[in-house]
Amino acid sequence: SRKTYILGIESSCDDTSAAVLCNKKVLSNVVATQDIHRQYGGVVPELASRAHQQNIVPVVHQALAKANIDKKDLSAIAFTKGPGLMGSLLVGTSFAKSLALGLDIPLIAVNHMEAHILAHFIEDDENNREPSFPFLAMTISGGHTQIVLVKDFFDMEILGETLDDAVGEAFDKSAKLMGLPYPGGPLVDKHAQQGNSAAFNFPKPKVEGLNFSFSGLKTSILYFLQRETKKNPDFVAENIDDICASVQNTILDILMDKLQLAVQQTGINEIAIGGGVAANSGIRTRLKEAEEQLGLHTYIPKFQYCTDNAAMIGITGYLKYRKGQFSNQSVAAKARFAI
Ligand code: KG4
Ligand code: ZN
Repeated sequence: SRKTYILGIESSCDDTSAAVLCNKKVLSNVVATQDIHRQYGGVVPELASRAHQQNIVPVVHQALAKANIDKKDLSAIAFTKGPGLMGSLLVGTSFAKSLALGLDIPLIAVNHMEAHILAHFIEDDENNREPSFPFLAMTISGGHTQIVLVKDFFDMEILGETLDDAVGEAFDKSAKLMGLPYPGGPLVDKHAQQGNSAAFNFPKPKVEGLNFSFSGLKTSILYFLQRETKKNPDFVAENIDDICASVQNTILDILMDKLQLAVQQTGINEIAIGGGVAANSGIRTRLKEAEEQLGLHTYIPKFQYCTDNAAMIGITGYLKYRKGQFSNQSVAAKARFAI
């Protein structure tokens, strides 16, 4: 069969990434993570765009070198058009346009949220299970929290999303209140594994339908910690495992309740999870339980295709290439860009 080589470029937030795919297989997936944001406890947009500017050329070179592909062999260039931080998107968009123009090959604009979902179609020697249509996708990361009905590759409908903070932000902000460094999600997970999830109770938000809200949880954790440390200044240090386990349990309850509701409402039991929070060990356990108790089929891509990466942009680019869905040189980055 014909071999199509797609260069994918991702620069929507704080990771500069480039990947080369041969059809549905990933030949390389290079990610330059920006450590500069750690000291600020969150992503600083101005610093992110400057770092993309520095990283983009070396990252693309590395991706081509690792794939052992000459740029003249590329079939098309796929890039993230949005949603994301405007200054960050502009770097990848401008670079992709220039390179496509220089090589005289097609340019393919990709929606970052669609790409998180279509990452499930990357072909992988170890794991070649893929969800079948229609399926429900839950994308959970530091930037997004969505439940999407996926009827076909490019026929998707958002059933619910967060009204305020993303779920990863809920992890990170809770971690910050406990004095853990950014990004705190993985540390909460680590402590939670040694803690008692029933030790403390936090209220769950009352949100209609399939939408989410996490800002109230952060506030109730703040008040709880203030109250307890007034009584015992060492409260957090002495109870960190139990606090993390209880916080994580509350967040996972919120996610699983909505997922279950989505399954009830749609009658669909194919569930595809993506985004950085899919790395959480607790959610993996919960999904396994749901497979057994509710008869769900769940899918989680390899970790490197869950967090922000260019391989997911590449696979989306390939699927669009097959349909001839190309962009012209007037395409522009969009900070807000619906599925
Ligand atoms: O997808 P991602 O790398 O970047 C975007 O935000 O788009 O997701 C990063 C988020 C952070 O909020 C991080 O704390 C969270 O995913 N995260 C986790 C875990 N690993 C990463 N949250 C909970 N448990 C984890 N093991
Ligand atoms: Zn993302």
